[in-house]
Amino acid sequence: MNKEQERLQKRIANSGYTSRRKAETLIAEGKVKVNGQTVTELGTKVRPSDTVEVEGVKIEQEDKIYILFYKPSQVITSVSDDKGRTVVTDYFKQLETRIYPVGRLDYDTSGLLLLTNDGDFTNLMTHPRYKIQKKYVAKLKGYLMREEVKSLERGIQLEDGMTQPAAVKIKSQDKEKNTTLVEITISEGRNRQVRRMFEHFGYQVSKLQRIEFGPLNLKGLNAGDGRVLTPHEVKIMRQLAEHGNK
Ligand code: URA
Repeated sequence: MNKEQERLQKRIANSGYTSRRKAETLIAEGKVKVNGQTVTELGTKVRPSDTVEVEGVKIEQEDKIYILFYKPSQVITSVSDDKGRTVVTDYFKQLETRIYPVGRLDYDTSGLLLLTNDGDFTNLMTHPRYKIQKKYVAKLKGYLMREEVKSLERGIQLEDGMTQPAAVKIKSQDKEKNTTLVEITISEGRNRQVRRMFEHFGYQVSKLQRIEFGPLNLKGLNAGDGRVLTPHEVKIMRQLAEHGNK
């Protein structure tokens, strides 16, 4: 496929008109026209200059938006919640475009979360092949030992496989309170991974915050704040995913 071209269903989904799956149904039902001609073949490719109409409505390309959000704890990383709890997109209700979280943070985890309407960008940021480094600060119940730090750095066996080497730095330890504050940088994004890495040694994580995602950090933001990424930051993030963290 020519770099400029994209599949018709993707173009429709990217416009925000409907989901890719629904777009496929509309194409198959003969409700989509390209340059005035009805098209029913799903794989049809279109160029940016092609006019696409769905159910008689001309669709426009939606501007891409990339948001860096400081997710508070006790907020769900989702666009809706059947229990009525606050979700991350509740903070962006004023936006006209639908945005989606890039990966996820646990309900109890705070920190840096990206949101976007660019599905390709989301895939780049979350695909395990592209190893974007994520730095977390964790508060542990217990006194993390040097040997355990070494094990975490090498990689440990979790129930879903070995972890990749991590960077681990003890920031402070309190003997009386029996707590450890530790920074950990990982390039994977398995479910509850950081918590499980410390639980492996018997430490409960009482607080977890993601403070960096690649070169991005939370500088200048309070919990609940968001800001738009600059075009330069978006470019750097794409390059990082495509060429690694070197
Ligand atoms: N690791 C976790 O355990 N939780 C998160 O939210 C993110 C990484």
